[in-house]
Amino acid sequence: MERTLVLLKPDAVERFLCGEILGRFERKGLRIAQMRMLNITPELAKIHYADHVGKSFYPNLEVYITSSPVVAVVLEGEEVIAVVRRMVGATNGIEAEPGTIRGDLSMSNRTNLVHASDSPESAKREINIFFPK
Ligand code: CMP
Repeated sequence: MERTLVLLKPDAVERFLCGEILGRFERKGLRIAQMRMLNITPELAKIHYADHVGKSFYPNLEVYITSSPVVAVVLEGEEVIAVVRRMVGATNGIEAEPGTIRGDLSMSNRTNLVHASDSPESAKREINIFFPK
C-alpha cells in the first residue's frame, strides 16, 4: 500500500470544503491513515515548499499558506500518489478539468484548495514533515 500527503489549505478550511474534499477521497476508496489540523509557520512553509522558495510567486504563497489553519492528511491506497494527483487536477483552477477538485471548486492558481505529493520521494519527505515519527 502506498501513502501520500494531502494538505487542505487555508481556503478549503475557510470555505467549509474539508468535508467535500475528504469525502471525494473516501468515496474513491482511499483510507485516511493520519490527520491533524495545524498552523503552518513561515519556517515550516520554507521547508515544505523548498522547491519553490526563490520563485516569484513564493512570497504570496507563504502569506497564503500561513494565513490560517490547514488540515494535513495521510491517505493510503493502491497507487494513491497518482490517483490523488489526478483527482486534484491542474494547479490553476481555471485550467483544471471539470470533475477534478480544483476544476470544480477553484478559480485560482494560488488559492487552489489542496496540496498533494507529486512523487514517492515527495510523499516520504512531506509525510515526515507533518507526521514526524
Ligand atoms: P501546490 O500544489 O501546493 O504547490 C505549490 C503551490 O504554489 C501551488 O499549489 C499553488 O498554491 C502555488 N502556485 C503555483 N504556481 C503558482 C503561480 N504561478 N502563481 C501563484 N501561486 C502559484
